[in-house]
Amino acid sequence: MIVSNSAPTPQRFLSGLVEGVCESMRNFAAKLVKIGDIALGEFPLLLAPMEDVSDPPFRYVCKQQGADLMYTEFISSEGLIRDAVKSRQKLDIFDYERPIGIQIFGGDEEAMGLAAKIVDATQPDLLDINFGCPVQKVVCKGAGAGVLKDIDLMVRLTSAVVKGTSLPVTVKTRLGWDDSTKNIEEVAERLQDVGVKALTIHGRTRVQLYKGEADWTLIAKVKNNPRITIPIFGNGDIDSPQKALEYRNRYGVDGIMIGRASIGYPWIFREVKHFMATGEVLDGPTLAERLDACKTHFEKSVEWKGEKVGIFEMRRHYANYFKGLPNFKDFRVKLVGCEVPDEIRGTLDRILVEYEGLVN
Ligand SMILES: Cc1cc2nc3c(=O)[nH]c(=O)nc-3n(C[C@H](O)[C@H](O)[C@H](O)COP(=O)(O)O)c2cc1C
Repeated sequence: MIVSNSAPTPQRFLSGLVEGVCESMRNFAAKLVKIGDIALGEFPLLLAPMEDVSDPPFRYVCKQQGADLMYTEFISSEGLIRDAVKSRQKLDIFDYERPIGIQIFGGDEEAMGLAAKIVDATQPDLLDINFGCPVQKVVCKGAGAGVLKDIDLMVRLTSAVVKGTSLPVTVKTRLGWDDSTKNIEEVAERLQDVGVKALTIHGRTRVQLYKGEADWTLIAKVKNNPRITIPIFGNGDIDSPQKALEYRNRYGVDGIMIGRASIGYPWIFREVKHFMATGEVLDGPTLAERLDACKTHFEKSVEWKGEKVGIFEMRRHYANYFKGLPNFKDFRVKLVGCEVPDEIRGTLDRILVEYEGLVN
């Protein structure tokens, strides 16, 4: 029998098959978002760093609901160097949280370089620099968003951090200082040039603080700049699965960072993911799920912070977990006024009994 060259011999068929599989794997790999060697999936959802909010107990519940990358709240570089207890405690990270980034801020090159070394020793997956905090006490020290007034300093600070650590360094910043200095396009190129491995941009200026609507058009410009090869994450005002998908499609970012919408509502992560994967709006959490998350948050707080501080700091979260429950005031008053863990647990259990059947 004569076999033509093009006939699919078993060997050719097999090698074709293998090549096909490799090709799909290459395509799949090409779509994965990576920061350095850290693979984050096709469209990562990031939990925003938030002072007094994104501590380990809160991160635990967000991780359970699908946050792909999380950050600590910002930590003062000077505080780390002074070995201040509060700053040191914020370095606490746990293996189940990975990948996790530790965020630092500061306005002094030497201090930032030294702080980077301290962070390095705690072995997070990455180190993030905050150039976006608008709070006056931070800005007036030339740190956080204060650096937006001096881009050369921002680049030098970043360079000092990159040199001080072997970790991938990322930056979170805003569009600029004010309307007349929205220099994020230049900033992105210069930060990439000194070794930054990903950039998160909050679509507001420092002067805007949290007012008005976040403007993502400049974020899209940065993303579409052919010189930019690092992942660009968009941030600002994402509070629903529909908006997340709309902004992903419209602005072409590599991932989205979510802050305020996750407070008391960690389900935002699973809802966005589900909507992006299926186009269906997932039902919101049941009352039992809300209670479960709140209780977990409470237990983790007491475990990590100790009974006194854990109970005290948990008070700011109850209203958020039970938003929308009618006539909730009495329960809230009990929860925030109580100092005995078992009584708090008992009150939480009674919420389920009281509202079961009345709400989802
Ligand atoms: C209570 C609170 C604390 C914050 N603390 C930090 C912080 O420590 N570091 C930081 O980079 N941004 C901080 N931010 C800004 C958020 O990370 C995020 O950029 C901002 O809230 C916009 O995103 P959102 O609209 O999804 O909330 C904070 C925001 C809030 C509301």
